[in-house]
Amino acid sequence: MSGSLNFPPNFLWGTATSPTQVEGHIHNEWTDFVAPDGGTCRVACDHYHRYPEDVQWMTQLGVNAYRFGIEWSRLQAAPRAPLNRAELDRYVDLLDRLNAAGIVPMVVLHHFANPPWLNAAGGWTNPAAVPAFADFVRQLVPALKHRVYLWNTFNEPDTYASLAYLLGGFPPHCRWRWGSFRRVIRHMAQAHELAAGIIRSEAGPGRAPEVGIAKNWTVFRAFHEWSPWDWATARASHYAFNQFVLNAFLGGRRRAASTFLGLNYYGRVRFHHFQAMIPASGSPARQLSDLGCECDDMVERHPPGLGIALRTLHRRFGLPIYLTEHGSASRDPEFRIRDLTRHLEVLQEALAAGVDLRGFFYWSLMDNFEWQFGYTKKFGLLAVDFADAQLPRRMTPVGEFYRGICTAGGPVCTRPGDGVACSP
Ligand code: FCB
Repeated sequence: MSGSLNFPPNFLWGTATSPTQVEGHIHNEWTDFVAPDGGTCRVACDHYHRYPEDVQWMTQLGVNAYRFGIEWSRLQAAPRAPLNRAELDRYVDLLDRLNAAGIVPMVVLHHFANPPWLNAAGGWTNPAAVPAFADFVRQLVPALKHRVYLWNTFNEPDTYASLAYLLGGFPPHCRWRWGSFRRVIRHMAQAHELAAGIIRSEAGPGRAPEVGIAKNWTVFRAFHEWSPWDWATARASHYAFNQFVLNAFLGGRRRAASTFLGLNYYGRVRFHHFQAMIPASGSPARQLSDLGCECDDMVERHPPGLGIALRTLHRRFGLPIYLTEHGSASRDPEFRIRDLTRHLEVLQEALAAGVDLRGFFYWSLMDNFEWQFGYTKKFGLLAVDFADAQLPRRMTPVGEFYRGICTAGGPVCTRPGDGVACSP
């Protein structure tokens, strides 16, 4: 599969991280969590101290956008407290360095973590989270609005609510609390609407602010379409994690709050006797390949699902779309380059079909703390040597390949077999 990729000149070619996964020195519900590999987020990639170097790496990669999170727990020590000045200044400095390097920042306001005082009060199951978050945003936006126009309120509320309250993978590790799942989504959707109103009314001097959530989109299917129980499990998953969540955030009058939709896409989950046939759920690699599932170290790869999601969401909501996350985890760089190429071709087709796609953010800038899996999943454009206390970063072949895409500034021909990208 090789061909020519042709993207609009103002397209954002970015990369992404989140605070808990890269910053280190963080105090939220993940601080005391120890993954099965013994990994914790306590130091992570030490991006907290090393962000100037990481901005230089981004320049080397040739990206023109960076999606990263502002860690609420750093900024507010108590509900409605004034924001911590020193911590705010650090984020301002990061933004200044990005803007000086010509890298457009996209700021995420919530990425799977809360301040300890909010967790102690029941987190997002408690309606008090809504005004507390709005207060945080009300203080934050005036401080940053001269430096940021792309605002991502919530990252994957569906993943957060389901792993924390249904599947037990995220703190507070609850299982099958459907009432809590629904309450969390409802409260986050209310908070999104309030935050979007604040952001849009606080326009800075430059470009008008853009605001949206990042919705994770997973394709759910039965492994054997004729299996009624697996079919029902897939339908129920699609309803709960895709439809219900989108309706809460973008249905009815709430659609008017957002100016864009962020989409995170990784692939497909197929059910076989109620079991999700993916490595992330513990299905052995051998069994998956025997069944013909092509997976990275997390989920089944399914590029056509991205095209369908883009066209469906474009038709349904009519909003500009940013692909706020896509990437793969594998120790095989050729696999990852092939995977990226196939997904970029799908983006190209979606653009040709009229989808208003504005940018792509590769997950992730560097290998990092992958939540309940610790450091075992290698998603980075940069590899990080976690065995070395200096945490040295190193360019990977995927990073080199992506640099070819980002810096071509025009048509790019891809030869995924040998991992080369070249401008004709
Ligand atoms: C997404 C998350 C991100 C990272 C990637 C692999 O669901 O938003 O933090 O874990 O998956």
